[in-house]
Amino acid sequence: MVTNMIVDLASAPLDTAQDEAALAHAGITFVNAQSADSATRSWIRARFSPTWAKEAYHAWNWFAYDKQGELAGFSSYEQRHYRWWWLRNWSAQSDTGIFGPIGVAAPFRNRHLGCVLTRKALASIRALGFARAVIPRVGPVEFYKRCCNAVIADTVRLFGIF
Ligand SMILES: CC(C)(COP(=O)(O)OP(=O)(O)OC[C@H]1O[C@@H](n2cnc3c(N)ncnc32)[C@H](O)[C@@H]1OP(=O)(O)O)[C@@H](O)C(=O)NCCC(=O)NCCS
Repeated sequence: MVTNMIVDLASAPLDTAQDEAALAHAGITFVNAQSADSATRSWIRARFSPTWAKEAYHAWNWFAYDKQGELAGFSSYEQRHYRWWWLRNWSAQSDTGIFGPIGVAAPFRNRHLGCVLTRKALASIRALGFARAVIPRVGPVEFYKRCCNAVIADTVRLFGIF
């Protein structure tokens, strides 16, 4: 059973200025890039999963780097190479962008970096012209509720939609 969430991009809180200022003070910088190079994919594979590394390769991404230039976290969006079965209600909806995956390295958690990466990816999806974004196969439901007012969209089983 898989739960997807949905975000209304017109009303979601996507401002990051205050959190980004605090993170900048700690030396965190952000880069927006299409795809992910081999070193980045290795980093994602080692900390999260081989599938997420492949998804980042086929997606647009926001990357967060620490003051040494090491990756601290990433968020991906508009990955449409892999058509996951749990997105069957959403991937053909022309007003809906696709968020994820997202990961923050353990030492950088609980500093709002995950929320900034989430909001940056959602703002990029909105800038592409989408009205909504689907957050597939969650995951930390409360985190997405708190960060961007996401709500549960559907719960999908392999052989049915409930
Ligand atoms: C989920 C994840 C990205 C959160 O990153 P983070 O940088 O620690 O989160 P933030 O500090 O931005 O959290 C923002 C808020 O959500 C809360 N929060 C974070 N993770 C949460 C969780 N799992 N459940 C409930 N609340 C959570 C924080 O306490 C914070 O609350 P506040 O606004 O009251 O301070 C990170 O824990 C992670 O990489 N997890 C492993 C990968 C993963 O599960 N990805 C999601 C797949 S769908």
